[in-house]
Amino acid sequence: MKFKIDGEIIDRPAIWWENGLVYKIDQTKIPFNIEVFSSSNYRETIYAIKEMIIRGAPSIGAAAAYGLTQAVHEFWKNKDFENLIDKAYNEILSARPTAVDLKNGLDVVRESQGINPEIALAQANSFASRIIDEGLKIGHIGKELIKDGIKVLTHCHTGSLALVDHGSAISPLVQAWKSGIRFHVYVDETRPRLQGRMTSWELAQFKIDHTVICDSFSGFLMAQGEIDLIIVGADRVTKNGDIANKIGTYSLAILAKYHNIPFYTAFPQSTFDPATDSGEKIHIEERSVGEVMNVTGFSKKHNTREEISLYLENTDFRNPAFDVTPAHLITGYITSQGILSASQLEGSLT
Ligand code: MRU
Repeated sequence: MKFKIDGEIIDRPAIWWENGLVYKIDQTKIPFNIEVFSSSNYRETIYAIKEMIIRGAPSIGAAAAYGLTQAVHEFWKNKDFENLIDKAYNEILSARPTAVDLKNGLDVVRESQGINPEIALAQANSFASRIIDEGLKIGHIGKELIKDGIKVLTHCHTGSLALVDHGSAISPLVQAWKSGIRFHVYVDETRPRLQGRMTSWELAQFKIDHTVICDSFSGFLMAQGEIDLIIVGADRVTKNGDIANKIGTYSLAILAKYHNIPFYTAFPQSTFDPATDSGEKIHIEERSVGEVMNVTGFSKKHNTREEISLYLENTDFRNPAFDVTPAHLITGYITSQGILSASQLEGSLT
């Protein structure tokens, strides 16, 4: 992805390794500032995952793989190497529990034969590269769903920043637009973390027509016949095709069923979890209630980012980051292996 930092155009993925440092485009600053956050050890990489400096299931997976690689580099000469790596593995694993990509990223490094710093890095790089390749394939495969003049709704953020590069649900939109198909995208704002800001920013890079809406408007748009297709991402897809995705996805899927609108999910192989039978077994991350209580935005007045409170201190909140959408509400699964049905997932993605 190309972006401008300090007046210079650079072409970088969402996350990369250089000389032991893990660099990430800081997603908490988009769209007002484009900054790079670097972590020099696995503890700082955990911080970046927890604080959503790097986010989106596949990018989190890549961060986990690079984080464990940092631990391998740090402890390589230590006689307690195995135990220290196990400890780092478990600490990284618990940073964000819902996306299976995080575990898959860790396992790619942990289970590599004859692990050493070079092998760990090669494994982490190949995990990240594979996500990039799959994102592009998802775009080329999924673009067959995008027809001239249609209106597409998407939720949360599934672009380059969330998938190292290219994206999942956004990728078919980008590839269709590049091949001259013209359509309109409705972007859910996605309370509370407002990932719609990143979706809007990425769509704008390609000059794709889009409108940002409050999440609560999407049902009424469907009732007005304004939505022809819904594509969302996924954070974990279980064996039977249930998906965990950003909170609000389940409500969209129900609304889509009611209004007879096709509802697709797009994701790379690292998001598929054949070891979990169905969605009710997924651990849903509960995040800080501060995310609901406060909003962080850019103050034009002070020319800086500011957090402001929306509620009184003693107000009660809940903040689950994800929900589960059952397979029977999903029209199809856009993957690098084709647009699949739930029953085709295990045979095609393992
Ligand atoms: O909590 P986040 O922002 O890391 O959530 C992940 C997501 O961006 C979405 O759930 C997305 O649809 C799947 S990841 C590409």
